[in-house]
Amino acid sequence: MPLVSMRQLLDEAAKGGYGVGAFNVNDMEQIQAIMSAAKETRSPVIVQASRGARQFAQDLYLFKLIQAAAELNPEIPIAMHQDHGNSFETCKSAIELGYTSVMMDGSLKEDGKTPASFAENVAVTKKVVEFAHDRGVTVEGEIGVLGGVEDGHGAGGSGLDHITDPDQAVEFAELTGVDALAIAIGTSHGAYKFTKKPDGSVLKMDVLIAIHKRLPNTHLVMHGSSSVPKDLQDVINQYGGKLKETWGVPVEEIQLGIRNGVRKINVDTDNRLAITGAIRKVFAETPEKFDPRDYLKPAREAMQKVVAQRMTQFGQAGHAGDYKAVSIAEIAKGYKDGSLSTQPLVAAK
Ligand code: G3H
Ligand code: 13P
Ligand code: ZN
Repeated sequence: MPLVSMRQLLDEAAKGGYGVGAFNVNDMEQIQAIMSAAKETRSPVIVQASRGARQFAQDLYLFKLIQAAAELNPEIPIAMHQDHGNSFETCKSAIELGYTSVMMDGSLKEDGKTPASFAENVAVTKKVVEFAHDRGVTVEGEIGVLGGVEDGHGAGGSGLDHITDPDQAVEFAELTGVDALAIAIGTSHGAYKFTKKPDGSVLKMDVLIAIHKRLPNTHLVMHGSSSVPKDLQDVINQYGGKLKETWGVPVEEIQLGIRNGVRKINVDTDNRLAITGAIRKVFAETPEKFDPRDYLKPAREAMQKVVAQRMTQFGQAGHAGDYKAVSIAEIAKGYKDGSLSTQPLVAAK
């Protein structure tokens, strides 16, 4: 199957009432791990690359690897997504490369650190929507700001600093015409999200539910959604790592989100933990080894295991064969003739 529009993938997920994991990639082994998990669980999937990933791997290497993944797995719908685009130019370059979806994260200014004003966010997101939809490409926007900093991206501070206001979410969706909406509900990127198992005082599922009530048909996106499981932390620490005690987003909270309009769930950190733990184990147990395949293979397998587990937990497992890819040209026509709506259904307060 050619790369599919993320809009199609999320519309199908909404029909089926499930969520779709969006997994970050930087190299071939991560892409292979995701594809093996998707094949194993028969899941549609979103593969995403941050600006840092595009720089690390170089655009063309990464994109050709994704094309290889699509060619080798014709039965799996794959959307290729730019994660946290910081400007119109970043999104435009991803679209020109062939990405089928972009996130314009206008919640922060172009430096990826300073919170932007509502007006600035609307203006840049709208500009990306016009450019992207003309070409059949999906757009995710963000309203509210996540906590933490990842690879220089993020406002820092606590996840509670800039929780999304439901009224602003409605206004933002109406003004921009985005296909998917990332909201801030207290999560942050990276391993250190919460100092104990999160409850409603730090993980604002009530805000998510309030937004879903106002925007019942909008595809919501949860960032910073790694669960940071203790067993993955333990492997790293058992073999010489030094992770401090920490908690992520419990899977049951994500599942509550999925029952309330969440269609895309971003996971990177859990895979990083799995890879690092597996590599540390090989280094510690067999220090005489030096063939990279001796540690990259278990690392890839450890990531596949986490991804397959999430695919099952999010409900996307078993849905790969539900539909055929609509071409990106057809999707572009849909945006033009209005058959693909860009105006949200808004429910009264
Ligand atoms: O946005 C956060 C993702 O985990 C990507 O992280 O910017 O370090 O590649 P990165
Ligand atoms: P985690 O750091 O929780 O995996 O979040 C990843 C993310 O939101 C990528 O955009
Ligand atoms: Zn994110």
